[in-house]
Parts: sequence; structure tokens; C-alpha cells
Amino acid sequence: MSQQDTPNTIYLKDYTQPAYWIDTVNLHFEIGDETRVVAEMEFRKNTSVEGHHVLELHGEQLRLGAILLNDHALANGQFSVDEGRLLIPDVPDQFTLQIETFIKPVDNKSLEGLYKSSGNFCTQCEAEGFRKITYYLDRPDVMAKFSTTIIADKISCPVLLCNGNLVDSGDMDHGRHYAVWEDPFKKPCYLFALVAGNLQCVDDHFITLSGRKVALKIFVEAHNVDKCEHAMQSLKKAMAWDEQKYGREYDLDIYMIVAVDDFNMGAMENKGLNVFNSKFVLAKPETATDMDFINIEGVIGHEYFHNWSGNRVTCRDWFQLTLKEGLTVFRDQQFTADMNSVAVKRIDDVNVLRTRQFTEDAGPMSHPIQPASYVEINNFYTVTVYNKGAEVIRMMHTLLGETAFRQGMDYYFATYDGQAVTTEDFVTSLEHASGRDLKQFRRWYHQASTPEVSVTGQYDEKKKSYKFTIKQTSVNEHNKAFHIPVQVGLITKDGTELVHASRLLELTKNEHVFEIENVTTPVVPSVLRNFSAPVKLTLSLSNDDLAFLMAHDTDDFNRWNAAQQLGVMVLLHMIEVYKKGHPEKLPAAYLAAFGNVLSASDADKALIARMLTLPDEDYLAELMPYADVDAIHLVREAACYEIAEKFQAIFLRVFTDNQQAAYKFDAESIEKRSIKNLCLAYLARLNTVETRKLAVEQYYAAHNMTDQMAAL
Ligand code: BES
Ligand code: ZN
Repeated sequence: MSQQDTPNTIYLKDYTQPAYWIDTVNLHFEIGDETRVVAEMEFRKNTSVEGHHVLELHGEQLRLGAILLNDHALANGQFSVDEGRLLIPDVPDQFTLQIETFIKPVDNKSLEGLYKSSGNFCTQCEAEGFRKITYYLDRPDVMAKFSTTIIADKISCPVLLCNGNLVDSGDMDHGRHYAVWEDPFKKPCYLFALVAGNLQCVDDHFITLSGRKVALKIFVEAHNVDKCEHAMQSLKKAMAWDEQKYGREYDLDIYMIVAVDDFNMGAMENKGLNVFNSKFVLAKPETATDMDFINIEGVIGHEYFHNWSGNRVTCRDWFQLTLKEGLTVFRDQQFTADMNSVAVKRIDDVNVLRTRQFTEDAGPMSHPIQPASYVEINNFYTVTVYNKGAEVIRMMHTLLGETAFRQGMDYYFATYDGQAVTTEDFVTSLEHASGRDLKQFRRWYHQASTPEVSVTGQYDEKKKSYKFTIKQTSVNEHNKAFHIPVQVGLITKDGTELVHASRLLELTKNEHVFEIENVTTPVVPSVLRNFSAPVKLTLSLSNDDLAFLMAHDTDDFNRWNAAQQLGVMVLLHMIEVYKKGHPEKLPAAYLAAFGNVLSASDADKALIARMLTLPDEDYLAELMPYADVDAIHLVREAACYEIAEKFQAIFLRVFTDNQQAAYKFDAESIEKRSIKNLCLAYLARLNTVETRKLAVEQYYAAHNMTDQMAAL
């Protein structure tokens, strides 16, 4: 929005195709404090749009030089400029337009368009930043082939980068040099990127499934060259994963990542030239934790995966943002799960959803993953569009199953490659490939709010069956019933999973009764396994049932969820009685369940570490009508101390068993560090000479940040 505009609302229902297409763009940059940009574009009338021949281009904060239409300079009066637009009435059906503009990257503090970060020039064009570089049809459904010439001073800007392949470069007069880049793929201008500066390059390569060699280059400031190894490995893992999981190969001969310090977001998927906030590239074990390493791997993966889900197939308009972001978050979640702990990744993602997205949905910012209107698109890069968007994709994955989902993805990529499409096109692809009807499911795209689901279960001794009654209690005049996949299972009292009872219930009405037959003994239900839908679930289970699920549920997410719920119940009760002056000890059932989990040798150690961490103080405070912070702290600390005392010997053994000689970044090593450091945290609470020594020794011996921080 330019300064003089009053905010005006843009509606999805008003979408119309552009009156003109742009087929090719030749950009010419003379980089400097005042940068000269010449854009030469070939326009073609969109025959499906009726009407007269007016060309209207976006442009902001530009100083206009010359305009040439089919090589003839336009005189004043043959065009007009106002409110972020350049208007040229009376253009032919097909024509070339050459526009000269001047911009000032140093004065650009918006970090959109072309700006300077630590002395280097770089661009950020999503969502609507390209219009700060030149006059253009700055909308994602206009896809063109770009070629770019960059001219700059050779001393201050030895590196000149743009999308695609480098086709020419050389020296010029006055100490300048040039580079010419061609991107063979049509793209919307939000994927354009240019970098000019003094950067060092870390090189590697990747051989694709079909045997093509891709040059991989990470550009950073000279003093950061030693912190790129992990990002490079992550990139190679991501490229191999997308081939193996989705059959998607990379398509250019070069893939570049540039790290800059000044960047509004985490990273940006510009075609062949990603720009990253340096915190998502730079890492070495001495200065980054396992969590940092995993996050970097995830963001590198995310931007890489956009090459197909976002770039090759892009969005028709910004209302479709979740088409690329929700889908790409889902893909990066799958990637991180495959590279690390599946269970812990799901727990972390659900935590983000419950704490941030549910809160967004409960407040004044509540909106569907595909909003119907917006004022400022930059405010719609939300946890709803991203993370709930990913959950909506995940539910379709659950409903269709792995094979049909993959077939749907293949169909989507094959059908819409090179096009700008809608979420409707995506859902239709999944329907087409699977034969499933997702008509009601589509409500997830258009209705805001978090559905509330209540579940009750009943064992019928005589009929030998178990009956689930599932209700959507949040259906109202704004929100019709959702199509909700509810994954359930039953576990017999001796801890055996009833295999035939494990199934996906599909709740489509306000209320539904599902009967599971052949249940011959009493069971404990496990509901909404793996958090199969982004809903608020009410299911009342006794503390005994929770302790039982914590020990026996075969669904890792629900095991953790039961542990959390039980921890909450137990601590909230202890806080209440403490406030009345009768401090209590942890119930025996809780300690027994804790001990079971701690000695479970088969389970993922990172998951065990999560399960054995008591709900944190903030979370407890949130659940109390009046948060007595002193009571919360004292009771939680006392509970930790009690656990530490009771399991001291086991903690010490597990701590010792999980020591590692050298630092490695892989799933197994991370798991070992998490369980070891959990044990250390409990032991240190005992505050004895021996346990203090353990912490001090680990602090000084640590060869990585995770261990050192844990010890500290
Ligand atoms: N396309 C976005 C980055 C973006 C969004 C740039 C809006 C400018 C305006 C990118 O793919 C993205 O989503 N990045 C995330 C990280 C990701 C791992 C979720 C980010 O930057 O936070
Ligand atoms: Zn993204």
C-alpha cells in the first residue's frame, strides 16, 4: 500500500484475469547508490478478457525515466502515473515495452524490492516487492521468462547473482563488470531475485536421480565460511528426499543460497537463488543446539521443496497462499520427521498449532486458511495459513492414504506444471486420483475457527462391542459440520492393542455413533491418534486411564499426550492442596507410569525425554483461573525433586549409558543427547556433590552447544 492510499479491501470473489500477459522480460541493472533499471517486456493481449486497450502496471517508489513502446518514446500525455500505477491507454494487441526506472537501495528500509544488507545488494519480491524495482504486472498469475544483465563495480560487488543459469560474464570499463543470467522457466515476478556484493562461496554438488549434476553454492560473508557445512548437508538431504518421497527432481544446473543479516522472514524460495536470514544457514556444533540444527534443516528443506510446490506450480492470486505454504510446510514436516524423530516432530508441530494457531483462531485475527478478503497481504502470512494449512493437507493425506495421496500429488504436478492455480485445483487433483469425494472436506478452506469435538466411549459387555459417540459441538450458523478424520484404537486392560479396532472414523455430521464389534474384554480408548485433525478434543479419562495410555498406547503422540494430561491433572491438584496448606506427594500411579516409560527400552529416546518432562509453568498458569506463580513454581520443583530422588539410580545409569565420544548430527545422536540431558536435569536438582560434579564436568568437556547449555 502506498502512503497516499486509504486502505481498501481486496476480495477473492472479484478476481479477474489480467488484460495482458507478459511473455519475456529482459532486465538490465546498473547497480549503485542510485540503481538504473531497464526492463524490456513483451506484452500480449489476453484474448479471454474483453474490453478496451489500457495497460495498467504496478510501481512504487520508482523514479521514472524513459518509456519506449515498440521502440518509440512515449511523450508526456501518452501515459500517466498515479497511486502506485502506470497507465498507458491505447496499446496494441502485441507490443514491446521498455521502461527505465531509478531506485535507491540504500534508502530502502522496507526490505522489499532491492535493498542493501551489510554492504550487499539483495532483493525480496514476495509478495508485492517487484513493483519497487520496475513497473510491472506484479501478480502471481503473470508468468514470464526472465533474463537479467547485472552491471556493478568489480571491487565492491565481485559476486553478481540472479535466477537461472549464468550465460555470460566479463569485464567492462571504469572498473565495472557484468553477468548475464537466464532463467529458462516461466515464473511470476515474486520469485525474481538478484544479489550483488562481496560474498564468499562454499561449493558442492548433487547428482540427481536421472544422473544430472547440479552445482550447489552457498554464499556468505567471508567470516562465516566455516558455518555452512550443515546447511549444505541439509540441502543435499532435501534434494534426495524429494526425489525418493515425491519423485521430484531439481530442474536447473545450479542451486544457490545466499545468507543475509537483514531479512524480514526466515527465508525465501526465489527460483534457483534462495535468500536466507543468516540465522537459518549458519551453524556449527559449538554455537548451535540440536534444535537450531533441526530448524535449519527444516527451513532449507522448506525453501527447496517450494521449487515444485510454489515455483513450478504457483498461486493464481494471493488468496491461494496456503496452496504453496500449507503444502510446503506439510512437506517440510514430513522431511524433518523422516530425518529425525517422527514422534517428537509431531509433538512439536501440534504444540505450535495448539498454542499459537488455536489462539489466533480464538481472537480477532481468526480467518480461514483461504481468506475471502484482505487489506494487506503481508499480514496474511499467518500460522493459520501456514500451520493449519499443513494440517488440512495432512488430513487429506490421512483420508486418502499414502498411495492415493502420492498419486494425487503426481497428478497435480503433471497437470499444472508451469501454471498459476488455485487450492480448488489441488483438491480436485486429489479427488481425481483417489476417486474420493472431498466436497464437504473443502469447508476446511473457507470456514475459520477450531472445531470442538467431544467423544464418549462405552463398552457393551453383552454385545461384546465398544461404542464411540462423537459430536462436533461447535457447529453453528457460521460453521457447518466439518469432515473430520478421527483415528481411534482400543487397548485391552492387559496392554494389548486390539488390531481390528484401530481405524479411521470419519465424522461428517453433528453427531455420529460408531460401533466396534468383537471387543471381548474391557478396554481403554485412544482417540484422535497422531492428532488426526486440528480440533479441540474433549474426552474424559481417569488418571488411571491416562497412566495406562502413557505406558501402553501404541500411538506415540497419544502416549505423550496422555503423559502431559496426567502431569497437568496431578500438578493442578497438588497446587490446589498446597494452597490450602496441605502439600501432597506425587501419586503412586504417576510415579509408576513415569518409571515404566523411563525403563522402556524399545521407545524413541527423544520421545521418552519429552514424555518425562513435566508440563511447564507457563502452560500450567494458562490452565488456572488465577495463576499463583509461586505455588506453581514450588509445587513443580518439589515434584521434580521427588522424581529425581525416586529414580536417582536409573537416571544415573541412563545418563552414563548415553554418553557419546564424538559429536554427530543424526537422529540417534540427538536422541541420546536428549535423554542424557533429561537425566542430568533431574539429577542436578538433587544438588549433591556428585550430581553437581556431573554438570560441571559436562559443561567443561562439552563439544557442542546442546550439552553445554544443558549442563549450565
Ligand atoms: N515464501 C516464504 C517467505 C516469505 C513470506 C517472504 C512472505 C516474504 C513474504 C517462505 O517460503 C517461508 O514460508 N518461509 C518461512 C520459513 C518456513 C520454514 C515456514 C519463514 O520465512 O518464516
Ligand atoms: Zn514457504
